[in-house]
Amino acid sequence: MADRYLSFTGTTPGRFLTRRLGLPQPTALHRWSAEHPSFTGELLHLSAGKSPLDGPDGLAAVLGRTGLAVRARSERPVAVVLDATGVTDIDTLAEVHAALHPVVRSVARSGRVIVLGAPLDTTDHHQAAVQQALEGFVRSLGKEIGRGITVTLLRLTEANAAESTLRFLLSPKSAYVSGQVIGIGGGAEVTAPADWALPLAGRTALVTGAARGIGEAVAATLARDGARVVCLDVPGAAVELDSVAGRLGGTALPLDITAPDAGARILAALPSGGLDVLVHNAGITRDRRLVNMAVERWSSVLDVNLASVLRTTDALLSAGGLATGGRIVATASIAGLAGNAGQTNYAASKAGVAGLVRALAPNAAAEHGVTVNAVAPGFIETKMTAAVPLFIREAGRRMNSLGQGGLPVDVAETTAWLAHPASGGVNGQVVRVCGQSLLGA
Ligand code: NAI
Repeated sequence: MADRYLSFTGTTPGRFLTRRLGLPQPTALHRWSAEHPSFTGELLHLSAGKSPLDGPDGLAAVLGRTGLAVRARSERPVAVVLDATGVTDIDTLAEVHAALHPVVRSVARSGRVIVLGAPLDTTDHHQAAVQQALEGFVRSLGKEIGRGITVTLLRLTEANAAESTLRFLLSPKSAYVSGQVIGIGGGAEVTAPADWALPLAGRTALVTGAARGIGEAVAATLARDGARVVCLDVPGAAVELDSVAGRLGGTALPLDITAPDAGARILAALPSGGLDVLVHNAGITRDRRLVNMAVERWSSVLDVNLASVLRTTDALLSAGGLATGGRIVATASIAGLAGNAGQTNYAASKAGVAGLVRALAPNAAAEHGVTVNAVAPGFIETKMTAAVPLFIREAGRRMNSLGQGGLPVDVAETTAWLAHPASGGVNGQVVRVCGQSLLGA
């Protein structure tokens, strides 16, 4: 499962040899650890156009709370935040080039470039054109910048609602999220936690498919953030499930999520306050090209990956099983966004998840105060991808802007950001955790 090439290129002979042979040289990413939970260094704050985010309680105040030293000039910034919310025409768009052209080379390895944009104004086609232009800009910069640096576009109208997102993007937790466009605003209530290090303290989270892989990492990360975790997986995985739940001080719920009464059984197993965070992570693949795909392969994948997500979400929402301020995070896949040969069933199910998220998000926020988002993992190093034939596996690993596969914890950190009480403004988003994979880019 280990990426031996990445380890090799991290050594002195490996660096020498791969440079001589002109081979890719991926940067070992800086991820969150208890010893190094945040970046240290300077954050370069730039702007293009006249920003509506200025003001005493505006962007500068939020950036000041990230722990980085905010500067208007920096020789070696660990992060650059370019406020382009005031870009409304071709002239102010040129300020984006003027601001970033001289500094991109100086950004530290594994650093961040974050461009802030405004929502597209459909009554002003000049503003819409140049704000849309920022997407092409950010996605291209993400592909060319290298050195493990990620590039993201965040659309917002108000800085405070973006604090949890800026803290996530400006931390090692977002190491494998790049080339993304994230919109903030119009969701549910934003609640700043009493302790930013334990944002889920006092909250209950249920994770499906928690016995191993990404689900196990999600449960562990939500527990790290203070949540009481309920770990659900098939009865056949009860031993692993018990061990995960035991290690995290949570409870195990052995249950096949496709059971028609799964929603009712989850409700019966919950503490009296119900759930604050529901993570639909359980998923399966049964790959075949459509011509060879028996109906069981189609129906089993659709049932686990989509129908059960619809059923349990409906059951929990209608019974009041999700508390106000709750969060639903579903799991899509880049295969669902881009399509993949041999995966008509899987991609249909995962595209369905994205549809569910987009349609349910505004209603769930309005009626229940609950946000609904999805993570869309790319190539993640798990047992599932370890089983992929070597050549395809190696291609999957390298064909992204960071030149390596992601880890389960990358999906888990993104889920934890979406589950955050201060992420109420993030709603209806499908966020790829794929190192900016070329698949469907
Ligand atoms: P995995 O196969 O390692 O783990 C999935 C877990 O879900 C297993 O513990 C399994 O027992 C459980 N599960 C399956 N059917 C279930 C059911 N009917 N009821 C309850 N639990 C059930 O998979 P992995 O890699 O951790 O994937 C997790 C999620 O991420 C899945 O939804 C998958 O489709 C998605 N994903 C994974 C990617 C990757 O590269 N590993 C890429 C894109 C998406």
